[in-house]
Amino acid sequence: MTACGKPLEVCMQGLGRLEYRGYDSAGVALAAPGMDLVAVRKKAGRLDNLKADLARSPLPDATVGIGHTRWATNGEPSDTNAHPHVSADGKIAIIHNGIIENASKLKMDLQSEGYVFSSGTDTEVAAKLLGKVANTIIEETGKPDLFEALRRVARMLTGAFTILAVDCRQPDIVVGARHDSPLVVGLGEGENFLGSDVAAFVAYTKHAMEIGQDQAVCISGDQVIVTDFNGNPVKDSKRFTVDWDASAAEKGGWPSFMDKEIHEDPEAVANTLLGRFDDQGDIVLDEVHIGLDVFRQVDKIIVVACGTASYAGMVAKYAIEHWVRIPVEVELAHEFRYRDPILTPRTLVVAISQSGETMDTLMALRHAREQGSRVLAICNTQGASIPRESDAVLYTHAGPEIAVASTKAFVAQIVAAYLLGLYLAQVKGTMYRDEIRHILEQLKDMPQKIQWVLDNQAGNVEQAAKQMVSAHSFLFLGRHVGYPVALEGALKLKEIAYTFTEGFAAGELKHGPIALVDAGEPVVVIVPSARGRNILHNKVISGIEEVKARGAFTIAVAELGDPDVEQYADVVFWRPVCPTLLSPLVDVVPLQLFAMDMAMLKGYDVDKPRNLAKSVTVE
Ligand code: M6R
Repeated sequence: MTACGKPLEVCMQGLGRLEYRGYDSAGVALAAPGMDLVAVRKKAGRLDNLKADLARSPLPDATVGIGHTRWATNGEPSDTNAHPHVSADGKIAIIHNGIIENASKLKMDLQSEGYVFSSGTDTEVAAKLLGKVANTIIEETGKPDLFEALRRVARMLTGAFTILAVDCRQPDIVVGARHDSPLVVGLGEGENFLGSDVAAFVAYTKHAMEIGQDQAVCISGDQVIVTDFNGNPVKDSKRFTVDWDASAAEKGGWPSFMDKEIHEDPEAVANTLLGRFDDQGDIVLDEVHIGLDVFRQVDKIIVVACGTASYAGMVAKYAIEHWVRIPVEVELAHEFRYRDPILTPRTLVVAISQSGETMDTLMALRHAREQGSRVLAICNTQGASIPRESDAVLYTHAGPEIAVASTKAFVAQIVAAYLLGLYLAQVKGTMYRDEIRHILEQLKDMPQKIQWVLDNQAGNVEQAAKQMVSAHSFLFLGRHVGYPVALEGALKLKEIAYTFTEGFAAGELKHGPIALVDAGEPVVVIVPSARGRNILHNKVISGIEEVKARGAFTIAVAELGDPDVEQYADVVFWRPVCPTLLSPLVDVVPLQLFAMDMAMLKGYDVDKPRNLAKSVTVE
């Protein structure tokens, strides 16, 4: 991962910053002049296990190094299956993200030639293969050429991979190749870096360069060479400057990243709005390089996303359909491709992703583009694959999100999708300019409303979590924009407090789920405002009455001073008065806090829940 004077230090700090991407094992490999074999150390479990091992028995000084934290796909988490993996002669070490789909076939071929495998991973297959190809090149040319060897191997692999490699015979370079898996270069002075995310090297340099699909890279202390897999030079790699400091990816005194990031919800909303208006207050999305004519002709939007990002898309559907009067479909990215969706050049596909690397979403957007639709990404990560492969990008400026549970990215995604909706309304003339400006003013008020919830409801939420900590299951109900908020609240509780939780549309209650309600069953209800058209409010209140009549313990998220809620709910998380369409931005906040408090009370690691990783870069 690094070619510089202090590779182990750089690798370990990079792994610390990237541990959220996978944390079932970690390892490093180093090379230096004079070494006969690469020096490798790897341990199952958290990075701290590796650190302790290195402290007990330090590795020798080196000139280049690679490091990896793993989220197991092939082979269970163990010392043996951890990366790096080495070539048969121990001279080359590699790390790998992704899944090599033809690994079994390649392994059988290698086994028939006498190669022996110690792990159950596809990565070891690539390591043995790279070793073999590297030795063939030495036989052909009389000298080692790791860069060429990796390119040849890349051409032989199918599936998804980013592979980085070091060779003790060339201890001044690190080489990499990528296909359907992320890789970025950090450009330092007298030192260069590779990482699956800029977080790996942002403490050393903010200057970065993208590596495109099916490209290979070779870094040394003073050079970066990029080619395609056939060795043709690539001259136009896009460079960018990381727009956040290393400190933004540190806990900064907070007990957890999740706690810090929930408290950054207001800033995430404010920053996502920043710089997106002209002097007249009209929305300008300069960064979105899609022409006005194209926008005018859009007659359908399909949002593709996964998890929390898909719930942000569901919230946006209510608003955009109301403002722009075109249909908005929201589709889980992994389902999208397989149902033969109707896509035309007038369909705008919106791919929402915090990481910008979710493979399911990437595959969905590729399919949409192949079918002739335009794709706009809403993304939080500069230079990631999803924005790079889209026609346009609208960045959420939430800052790096480290906790696996997505929080500030969710509110920022809603704001970005709303900006897109209002922009379309402006371009298509489906709303008066004054109406749009009025909503924008209301959006600008939202950070302080979220702050009010953080300042005034956190104690209330913690109290409720203490009361509910032993509950075995939860139901979350909502209607209209409260429905995706209920789904999001339920997801948070599942993923970090490991509690069986079902979120559903409140209207469905009597169509089945009410049978789950028994004495003491906790039911969380998002209650719409009683102001204006209060028909939904009354229906949701009836829902609360119905579950209470069957013994449920009810927690409501409701507007300050709602008298009906006070009468029926056992606990209320209050929201300040705000327009219905903007209420998800505040309603989700107590649910984020609630899940975090529950997880903490149960003694779980809120930032790194079991079995999960922050970026899901495999399908
Ligand atoms: O990086 P993305 O926004 O594409 O990630 C999508 C989901 O994997 C993500 O939102 C996931 O559901 C979160 N862990 C939820 O908190």
